Amino acid sequence: MSLAGKNIFVTGGLGFIGSHTVLVLLEHGATVHLIDNMSNSFERVFEHMKKLAGDKADKMKFTKCDINDKETLTKIFEKETFDCVIHFAGYKAVGESVDKPLEYYHNNFVGTVILLEVMRQFKCKNMVFSSSCTVYGLPEEVPITESAPLKAISPYGRTKLFQEDMFRDLAVSDKEWRILLLRYFNPIGAHPSGDLGEHPVGIPNNLMPYIQQVALGQREFLRVFGNDYPTPDGTAVRDYIHVMDLAEGHVSAVVKTLATPDLGCTPINLGTGTGSSVLEMIKAFEGASGKKVEYRLVDRRAGDSVAVWAATETAEKQLGWKSKYNVDDMCKHQWAWASKYPQGYETPL
Ligand code: UFG
Repeated sequence: MSLAGKNIFVTGGLGFIGSHTVLVLLEHGATVHLIDNMSNSFERVFEHMKKLAGDKADKMKFTKCDINDKETLTKIFEKETFDCVIHFAGYKAVGESVDKPLEYYHNNFVGTVILLEVMRQFKCKNMVFSSSCTVYGLPEEVPITESAPLKAISPYGRTKLFQEDMFRDLAVSDKEWRILLLRYFNPIGAHPSGDLGEHPVGIPNNLMPYIQQVALGQREFLRVFGNDYPTPDGTAVRDYIHVMDLAEGHVSAVVKTLATPDLGCTPINLGTGTGSSVLEMIKAFEGASGKKVEYRLVDRRAGDSVAVWAATETAEKQLGWKSKYNVDDMCKHQWAWASKYPQGYETPL
């Protein structure tokens, strides 16, 4: 699969998924211009990316820019022609979105409108969008297919659903738009080298960054939210997917978008098709790290689903893509990152 000669614009390119994806785009021959507003990332990410990109480092360019900054976006699009945009930039914390709905609507929704206006002005109408399985709300059936009912259960979820709706409207209004909505399940892990990974700012909301910090001795114990779910061990089940698999999924998505004139707006799940419980993830991380992960069983977290995993047939058929890594690989690579950079991108060199 080659993207040789293709120029890709990436928003949120210094984030967890964005940074890994940019590297994989380079490996497949693309050139990349990435932007990030640094609200949830670090300048040092780009240094790590350059090191990993080696002789391909000159094929990527970084501009500090917010998607709401129409003037800077316009200048970038005036200077360069892009074959496709991958749009990662967005706030993503469910709990925070309940406290700051306006910030979420402004950044995620208004920012996307501005980006799309600039793309339209410069006739770049190919888009791969970072959506989420959150658009399925509390799913009634697993595995979840792309035709399952859509429902938002948080302001964050609503921003994703509204964005999806906007993309669907756009594709109806103008057949030149080609839009792939990638609905991610639970991305975890790190670059296999351990030189790139996730650095959550503040107390982690998500399971795996929290487990990592307990294993590192930075937090005393993990709270396991609920052990009375109707699952084999009583804890909730999710479809964890390696960030490198997800990155490869984006390359396949760009190739598909460029090759499919009548794509319209199409949703595709990116997951492994396998669910793991919270206790299974603790065990896998202990195995990978050789560290004990202390935990306490506490009440369920409001708004959590029992079990969520993806139907993967659409991705296999439409993108020719399938995940390769299992949860042990995910934990192994995440531990490689954690043990090398215990303070993430703030670890002294
Ligand atoms: N969990 C714990 N303890 C913690 C953190 C999480 O037990 O400290 C449990 C949760 O209850 C859940 C599982 O670990 O059962 C995974 O939780 P995450 O917060 O890592 O992930 P979620 O599946 O809850 O959330 C993910 C994305 C959201 C998205 C949501 C939609 O992070 O952005 O899926 O389904 F909205």
